[in-house]
Amino acid sequence: METAYFNGKFIPKEEIRISPDDRGFLFADGIYEVIRWYEGFFYDMSSHVTRLKRSLRELRINWPDADLFPSFAFDLIKLNNLENQPAMVYLQVTRGAARRTHSFPSPEVPPTAYAYAWGFIPDSKSNETGIKVMLKDDIRWGRCDIKSVALLPNTISFQEARENGLKECIFVRNGLITEGTHSNIFFVINGTLFTHPESNYILSGITRKNILRIAQEAGIAIREEAVQENRIRFIQEAFICNTSAEVTPVTELGGNTLGEGIPGPVTKIISAKFNNEIKALKG
Ligand code: PDD
Repeated sequence: METAYFNGKFIPKEEIRISPDDRGFLFADGIYEVIRWYEGFFYDMSSHVTRLKRSLRELRINWPDADLFPSFAFDLIKLNNLENQPAMVYLQVTRGAARRTHSFPSPEVPPTAYAYAWGFIPDSKSNETGIKVMLKDDIRWGRCDIKSVALLPNTISFQEARENGLKECIFVRNGLITEGTHSNIFFVINGTLFTHPESNYILSGITRKNILRIAQEAGIAIREEAVQENRIRFIQEAFICNTSAEVTPVTELGGNTLGEGIPGPVTKIISAKFNNEIKALKG
């Protein structure tokens, strides 16, 4: 039996009932977080709590329990016997249930909070040999910095990648490469690491932030600058990153083979350093 968190309580997942008037259902009026459990700890939980609070603030959802995320996420791991395996925790908070109207409910209604945990097998083959990804016009809204559950452009674009036998779809806005449907992307051009700067056009990934720190500690030159789609031929290496995929090399971008078509040396250094950090945290 799967135990989930629902509005402050732990209950069997199948007993959860959410109103059809929930604004998450009606308007995708909610936010979410995803964090990885590494057989003993959550990676960079404090950054996830900070981003969770920011998402709530940006959408003006008053949910007082954000600081309890570390504690109930850990409870979910324990209650579902996931302590000793790679696992993920998903949390979603919506503005709550109220008669459908575009303006916010007045008076305010309690938010709906739901979280669950699941064990998974990391895709180590992709981490080692790399993946092929497609490119597509960024059809999303102008607030990609908010971790909102309104993910239709992301899901249909990822589906398109899947149907083409590719592992991710990378968005291009006004000729500039932004990020993936559920990942950030880095490039190596003449030894310098490039990634789109933090802005309303990308999600500030926690993995992205930690990779920038790791690269800086390793003395790798960094430029938080978007790469133009028409400069793909100058890219020697690329990798995507997110909470579950960590550092995943990209060997082909929009039909263009990058470098030798295998994970490049800078990518390998960053990936190794990231993995070493995890190992050290495991103790
Ligand atoms: N997605 N950009 C987008 C659009 C994302 O959805 C994600 C994460 C990231 C990477 O963020 P982080 O390093 O904090 O995981 C970047 C999660 C994994 C998801 O939607 O499942």
